[in-house]
Amino acid sequence: MATKILIIGACGQIGTELTLRLRELHGADNVIAGDIREGSEELMQSGPFEIVDATDKSAVEDLCMYYEITDVYLMAAMLSATAEKFATKAWNLNMNSLFTVLNLAKSGKIEKIFWPSSIAVFGPTTPKHDTPQHTIMEPTTVYGISKQSGERWCEYYFNNNDVDVRSIRYPGLISWKTLPGGGTTDYAVDIFHAALKEGSYECFLHKDTELPMMFMDDAIRATIEIMEAPADKVKQRSSYNLSGMSFTPEQIAVAIKKRIPEFEITYNPDFRQAIADSWPSSIDDSEATKDWSWNRSFDLEQMVDEMIDNLK
Ligand code: SER
Repeated sequence: MATKILIIGACGQIGTELTLRLRELHGADNVIAGDIREGSEELMQSGPFEIVDATDKSAVEDLCMYYEITDVYLMAAMLSATAEKFATKAWNLNMNSLFTVLNLAKSGKIEKIFWPSSIAVFGPTTPKHDTPQHTIMEPTTVYGISKQSGERWCEYYFNNNDVDVRSIRYPGLISWKTLPGGGTTDYAVDIFHAALKEGSYECFLHKDTELPMMFMDDAIRATIEIMEAPADKVKQRSSYNLSGMSFTPEQIAVAIKKRIPEFEITYNPDFRQAIADSWPSSIDDSEATKDWSWNRSFDLEQMVDEMIDNLK
């Protein structure tokens, strides 16, 4: 059967660029964008779009049946900072949407699932540097708890119900097409908009907070590569560590200042500092490299060039 794709959460930061890329690869009519709200003009004009609430089980099922969907990318989620404020809503959205698609695959109604996990699955007791694939995982955030539980369910459905679900632990994602919303790593996107508009930025994290990050082009490529890999190459059915670059607010500010000399940064940490402090500072992604040949291409300097060139 031909691949027919549904992206739930297609108008978000990852969903937008993922949808556009999948449409290039598979043809616009084979990639259905779904979200609770309309997205950017570029996205809306690039192919079919449906309003869908990721927590509405029968609506998701109806869409899959109507379009004869084979692959679902479930990108709808509440991110770390917002989830701390709306714990029950975050749990319901992040978990129930996952159960819906896992059960659709279990009953043979769809064939393959992509579900994003995050560095938020790690916690303060996890080794902070070069965090290994298999290690202590005691997440302390609402978002991290939902992603950790989701990983366990993905692996469970793979082992017990033959569900072909594939997942990546995304680092903080940096992109210029669509803004992120409600995450702790969002400062690394906001900083570019502020630098170009105001020439200054007040950062909500401390200057020395080092976090794993990745340029969106790498994240999209990784997502497509893991989905295209032969099933027997995808050995980790919880989720794969994935690494791009690591930097602190001070280091990204220095890189921006090289290109925009008048740029100034100040620091005023808020509740998101505690979330960031509970996460690793760098990630060992050698399992992804070994199993499906993952290699990152963007480093900090290249990413800063791309961001400034495109946002200007
Ligand atoms: N970027 C996300 C966040 O900050 C982590 O997956 O919430």
